[in-house]
Amino acid sequence: MSVKGKNLMSGVVLVGAQWGDEGKGKITDLITPEFDYVVRYQGGNNAGHTVIHGSTQLALHLIPSGIMYPQVTPVIGNGCVIDPAVLLKEMDSLTVAGFSCDRLLISGNAHLIMPWHLALDAASELRLGQNEIGTTKRGIGPAYQDKAARSGIRVQDLDDPHIFRLKVAAALETANALLTRVYDARPFDVDAVSEQYLQYARRITPHIADVSAVLNAGLRTGRRVLFEGAQGTLLDIDHGTYPFVTSSSCTAGGASVGAGVGPTAIDKVLGIAKAYITRVGAGPFPTELSDATGEQLARVGGEVGTTTGRLRRCGWYDAVIIRYAAAVNGLTDLCITKLDVLSAFESIKVCVAYEYLGQQYRSVPSSQTAFHHAMPVYEELEGWGADISGCRCFAELPAAARAYVERLEELAEVPVSVIAVGPDREQTIMRGWRA
Ligand code: GDP
Ligand code: IMO
Ligand code: MG
Repeated sequence: MSVKGKNLMSGVVLVGAQWGDEGKGKITDLITPEFDYVVRYQGGNNAGHTVIHGSTQLALHLIPSGIMYPQVTPVIGNGCVIDPAVLLKEMDSLTVAGFSCDRLLISGNAHLIMPWHLALDAASELRLGQNEIGTTKRGIGPAYQDKAARSGIRVQDLDDPHIFRLKVAAALETANALLTRVYDARPFDVDAVSEQYLQYARRITPHIADVSAVLNAGLRTGRRVLFEGAQGTLLDIDHGTYPFVTSSSCTAGGASVGAGVGPTAIDKVLGIAKAYITRVGAGPFPTELSDATGEQLARVGGEVGTTTGRLRRCGWYDAVIIRYAAAVNGLTDLCITKLDVLSAFESIKVCVAYEYLGQQYRSVPSSQTAFHHAMPVYEELEGWGADISGCRCFAELPAAARAYVERLEELAEVPVSVIAVGPDREQTIMRGWRA
């Protein structure tokens, strides 16, 4: 291939820089018009991405957040796990809302979430008791477990009823044994599950595409691709706070694996971070505020899970985590969302380092024990005490709000090129972002 051809590559990865729910949906929707394809590359319907424009509000779980634009092709890549019942419901509700899903492309290599995956997710959490991960119970972990065990059932299997039934029968031999003998739970019937899924197949198989080939052909001819991450860096199976993580590669590298494009196709990586930080589910959280300030952040920020309706745990912005996210994702840009939520606070803290056993850490400690016991070292910044939700350029922000953003930028060593000051598409400050 010529050097000229290589220069045409134009992929951007949008990735959560914290523990998820950073506002990825809003930013994906906002920048989608700059792209030809928007691709989900990992995760499943554990994700909940809220997109608001005017009176239209969408809560998306599997379909990429660019669906509102008819000129863009939405894609679900091989790295995703798909619950067909959820996918079809989401497609139906989008159609009712006036957004056609006809263009949706689904990789035949994506794995299916089967009913026993949901049952195993619930049973395993129950068994863990106090040590539970706090999963979304959508069957995500067990589906990826089967994928890694090479016993998973893929979207393309829906296209061959005979093979599909054989695979369901083979998978259920193990899954039913686990459910009944280990977890004392109800087994599944091969025929009932096969019938149910083959009904879904009629509507899903027309969307099957060779996603990797489509995207590579597009990239070669100058088409632009946005890879929309789900979850966040610290929920990544390799780089997150293991074992309190999800089961996929949420970091930027996951886009290459989960969509079938080379890393050289990616020009930019935009990290999304809230102006504070939240987490749903169990696991360590150094800046967590289990007090009135935490409650205030949750209330003002409306911190309730889009997928499970659980209250999100809240804390001050953790610059150590963002520095780590910048490194493991290779962030070229940072977007700070929900800056407007901090208008309610007289003074604002930012964690700049951790302390553990007399040692200071300026980056995330590689030892799980150190991270679990890390005490935040805070810097205190002045609040701005004014409503900023109507600001549309950086200069319009109060001086203290500008100083806050500039300090975050300095700590991250990554330019803050987008700032969100409200949930609507319009409530955004572009500060040098270029796809
Ligand atoms: P995602 O999973 O990363 O897409 O994030 P979620 O959609 O789960 O959660 C982010 C929530 O914050 C949603 O309810 C958004 O509508 C909302 N949101 C996004 N950006 C902003 C912002 O700048 N300010 C405010 N107040 N809300 C925002
Ligand atoms: P978006 O894309 C926040 C969390 C769960 C749990 C852990 C494992 O909306 O940012 P799983 O069901 O994936 O096995 O649960 O991961 N989790 C999320 N937290 N936002 C998400 O998605 C999440 N998806 C999973 O709460 O702690
Ligand atoms: Mg979410």
